[in-house]
Amino acid sequence: MTIQEEIRDLCRQKKAVIMAHYYQRGEVQDVADFIGDSLALAQQAAKTEADIIVMCGVHFMAETAKCLCPDKKVLIPDPQAGCSLADSCQAADLRKWKEQHPDYTVVSYVNTSAEVKALTDVVVTSSNALKIVNQLPKDAKILFGPDQNLGNYINSMTGRQMELWNGSCHVHARFSAEALMRLKQEHPNAKVLTHPECKQVIINLSDVVGSTQALLNYVREHKDPEYIIVTEWGVIHEMQKSCPDVRFIPVPPEVTESVGCSCNECEYMRMITLEKLRDTLRDETNTVEVPYNIAKQAVRSIHRMLEMS
Ligand code: 13P
Ligand code: SF4
Repeated sequence: MTIQEEIRDLCRQKKAVIMAHYYQRGEVQDVADFIGDSLALAQQAAKTEADIIVMCGVHFMAETAKCLCPDKKVLIPDPQAGCSLADSCQAADLRKWKEQHPDYTVVSYVNTSAEVKALTDVVVTSSNALKIVNQLPKDAKILFGPDQNLGNYINSMTGRQMELWNGSCHVHARFSAEALMRLKQEHPNAKVLTHPECKQVIINLSDVVGSTQALLNYVREHKDPEYIIVTEWGVIHEMQKSCPDVRFIPVPPEVTESVGCSCNECEYMRMITLEKLRDTLRDETNTVEVPYNIAKQAVRSIHRMLEMS
């Protein structure tokens, strides 16, 4: 029996569902029941009838699923799979920031801990951030965190002047503008597709800016001969499966030696392997728990997001 068959067998026996983010290793995406971006994973978790959710993604995604499904078992194949962006905003620091801005609405990116979500009025993902911020009253004073680049992008697209937390994703913030300009010269007909967690200089060089799902939808719809992709390169797996004849060109990070790869990858996402997935599901280990009081608060801001999406 192959490891993939073992995993699918365990899923059937245990009534488990495997959810995977588009940044996961290709072989993990291929064995999943459901692949999605952060928003789709939360939506899917909210409606699943499975007894066990195995979240192949990073820790905040598993926590979000646990907040939405407190009675289900939520497992993560490697509990060390964190997120530099979520780590950049600790709940105690957010609490102080709120105290300094008492009449502000707190909008937090989904890439945050459950504790931070518990201090938040409404959660957003890169898929729905513009839509949700546009629904807030025009005169609302807003604190947005932790991604400063996404915050700047939202401000520029909505005309809001949200106060921004000083955080960023180390993967999206390190794309090389020089490499992108060179690739644009080498492939003058290729459209540049970029995630809004990237810096302004990269966004200014792009043709399409959108969430993981939006970029994937664009590719499926347009099927241009080639695209330059400025986001975590795991997404190319699904793009290539959807459009086998299209050429996808990943942009390297500023200093390739520091990541040992000419593509830009999130090492946290890569921590999930088929072996860890199989073992976690078989032994029902690495359960994700969120303290009751925190989950109760956090789920309000997550539900508000789902309602406003
Ligand atoms: P989305 O899945 O919302 O596009 O987010 C990208 C990301 O960085 C996930 O950690
Ligand atoms: Fe976090 Fe960035 Fe990795 Fe996404 S790509 S999980 S934001 S570190």
